[in-house]
Amino acid sequence: MKDDQRQKIIIDTDPGQDDAVAILLALASPKELDVLAIVAVAGNVGLKQNALNALKIVELSGRTDIPVYAGCDRPIRRRLVTAEHVHGKTGLDGPSLPEPRIGLQPVHGVDFMIETLLASQGKQITLCALGPLTNIAMALAKAPQIAGRIKRIVLMGGASFEGGNITPAAEFNIYVDPEAADMVLSSGVPITMIPLDVTHQALATKPRLGAIGQLGNRTGSAVLEMLTFSERFDLEKYQWDGAPLHDPCVIARLLEPDIFEGRLINVRVEVASELTRGMTVADYWAVTGRKPNVEYLRHLDADRFFSLLTERLARLP
Ligand code: BDR
Ligand code: CA
Repeated sequence: MKDDQRQKIIIDTDPGQDDAVAILLALASPKELDVLAIVAVAGNVGLKQNALNALKIVELSGRTDIPVYAGCDRPIRRRLVTAEHVHGKTGLDGPSLPEPRIGLQPVHGVDFMIETLLASQGKQITLCALGPLTNIAMALAKAPQIAGRIKRIVLMGGASFEGGNITPAAEFNIYVDPEAADMVLSSGVPITMIPLDVTHQALATKPRLGAIGQLGNRTGSAVLEMLTFSERFDLEKYQWDGAPLHDPCVIARLLEPDIFEGRLINVRVEVASELTRGMTVADYWAVTGRKPNVEYLRHLDADRFFSLLTERLARLP
């Protein structure tokens, strides 16, 4: 389509219940988003299971036209750390989703990304990163010329004001592969970072979850079951009214950017210290003189975010 104004995106993900909701939000928004593919990465659980989960989510959404690839099965230099304690043994515990009938594409996810970016005209494609940044860093390392082809990387990861969620210093996605995060943040590609400082405002309270569960479609029921499972860990940990819904913020940023507020700052990642491994050192007050490399989001309008999510999920089967 010549006049296609839709944003072309590739979703890089380790699904994960909140990743699943992000994918569903994107697939429920075909007027705004042209989802070129979903690429799985090792993170919440191992690569094989994450890729299987991605296939199940695509089938749940009824959008089996979306190709799913498997990318890297471990971080660049570290042993894989997973999060079954949050997401369950399958990474997507909660609903009972059927075994997928569709299969994975027969190409490595990193090669798919490189080929697709090189074949694209100008800076058209946005990478949405919902897990550790291994695939994107590997693509940049293998084919540095793709940096000039990426419109923007919008990523869920990092934390500053809120502190970490896997260690006191670090957020999970950055902690798992800090070298990858460092490579991405140093790449010169425009980056929007959605840290815990924002996602801790996106609380899936009982009324908000209830509204999704009452949509009357299979997607709403599955999302309720997923988030009811994954919230138990966070509810106990934080004692808040609801658990934070991290990854869908990435897609919401593309759909309704003004739900969020932030500023352009410098962010660097700690790769040397074990104590603060994966810490995102955010120069929010510009005290270092280091060049800004990240649009760092810090606030969101939670009511608007959940209205958007609920309204879009209602459109799926
Ligand atoms: C991030 O870690 C994962 O467990 C979630 O899916 C999200 O991407 C939050 O720290
Ligand atoms: Ca994730």
